[in-house]
Amino acid sequence: MEVVVVPTKKDGSEIVGGAIADLLTRNPAAVLGLATGSTPLGVYDDLVRRHNDDGLSFAQAKGFALDEYVGLPAGHPESYRAVIQREIAERVNFAPGSVHGPDGWAADIPAACTEYEEAINAAGGIDLQILGVGTDGHIGFNEPISSLASLTRIKTLTEQTREDNARFFDDDLSQVPTHVLTQGVGTILRARHLVLLAWGENKAEAIRATVEGPVTSMIPSTALQLHQHATIVVDEAAASLLSDREHYKWTYENKPAWQGI
Ligand code: F6R
Repeated sequence: MEVVVVPTKKDGSEIVGGAIADLLTRNPAAVLGLATGSTPLGVYDDLVRRHNDDGLSFAQAKGFALDEYVGLPAGHPESYRAVIQREIAERVNFAPGSVHGPDGWAADIPAACTEYEEAINAAGGIDLQILGVGTDGHIGFNEPISSLASLTRIKTLTEQTREDNARFFDDDLSQVPTHVLTQGVGTILRARHLVLLAWGENKAEAIRATVEGPVTSMIPSTALQLHQHATIVVDEAAASLLSDREHYKWTYENKPAWQGI
């Protein structure tokens, strides 16, 4: 695991945008794992800038969202399908139909989850998965005690996560769905590169546990310790509870330039 501590979320977003640009240059048909929520928005802005200014192309790339609410009306602006379209897919040149998400409206939910896993596998697997982290340590919507081997399935949100996400629903908890479809922890661990981002003090405890705590399904983000190529990009506030913070900074500042993140 590598921990990159940056002064601001803009710095971190540019580093991750740069890593995605490098990936697309090496492999224009790369498969990107796309997160929603507030955390990755700066990365999406950075990618849009690289698309507009530098000609970074997504024409052959594919995208897979991490998760989706169950129970929202089709086309709801806070459905993750709508968010992914609005924040990234429509702003760059993904080919029509190349950005996918779990089908939270399916009549047969287990079948839709199986199909989603099959679609990821058929695309050759995810090359780089962007992740945020919940204050309770969820990745995707894998809440505490999610199996570390889990695949895409339905999950129930914790009260904490529903409260955290009420800001997207007029601060009205009653509008926040209780159920979601999410890639499993096992699905996420199959991606070739995991890049987890976190900004601000309210993520500091989750980041401490993710990086320096024991692996436990009580804090699903700790599963990143089992991955061969996991990068944690955090601002100073999110890094504030890391006991070895200075070592992580030194390591990043002194790594060989060719290595990237
Ligand atoms: C979103 C997702 C979640 C969020 C997490 C943090 O697709 O999978 O794990 O990354 O809830 O949300 P924000 O970024 O809004 O703090």
